[in-house]
Amino acid sequence: MILRPVAYNELPELASLDARANRSPWSLFSYQQSASQPQHQIIGAYDEGGELLGACVFSQVLDEGEILQLCIRYEKQRNGYAYQLLEQICNDLREQQVNQIFLEVMVGNLAAINLYHKIGFNVISTRKNYYNVNGKYIDALVMAKQL
Ligand SMILES: CC(C)(COP(=O)(O)OP(=O)(O)OC[C@H]1O[C@@H](n2cnc3c(N)ncnc32)[C@H](O)[C@@H]1OP(=O)(O)O)[C@@H](O)C(=O)NCCC(=O)NCCS
Repeated sequence: MILRPVAYNELPELASLDARANRSPWSLFSYQQSASQPQHQIIGAYDEGGELLGACVFSQVLDEGEILQLCIRYEKQRNGYAYQLLEQICNDLREQQVNQIFLEVMVGNLAAINLYHKIGFNVISTRKNYYNVNGKYIDALVMAKQL
């Protein structure tokens, strides 16, 4: 697996794989807006042939990081890609003097919650009605990891 920033012209592909993998995907517009934010980074995971496997969007402000979005292509899940991608991002942020990383995850998203626990995140609070999926409001867990 190769990690590198996702190029602007690859964002449509990323938004499309996110839409197929995720109950709460980002639109292409959200990815494009994120790409224009100086504090945001979009790091992609690629296979040896250059295929985009998935990506993580995160931000860094001073000594705090936040995971904003994460998805792995539906057909490529359960191969350890998200774990490797997040581990690398945590290591890079630690080297940038980041002390703590936060994220929100949908209640009931067991794949993501298990993944974040495996990486060392803990639940610190709940945000009521944070997500709206097809008109239904769903709570978010706020998770944090000390680096
Ligand atoms: C969550 C997601 C990114 C995981 O990606 P992945 O590459 O399949 O995950 P990995 O193969 O690296 O798995 C690492 C760990 O995550 C957990 N996990 C991953 N998929 C799981 C599943 N379907 N069920 C239960 N646990 C799962 C396991 O603890 C796993 O460790 P293990 O293999 O030792 O059991 C992927 O399922 C996804 O893209 N989901 C849709 C988008 C999403 O929900 N993003 C999170 C937004 S906050």
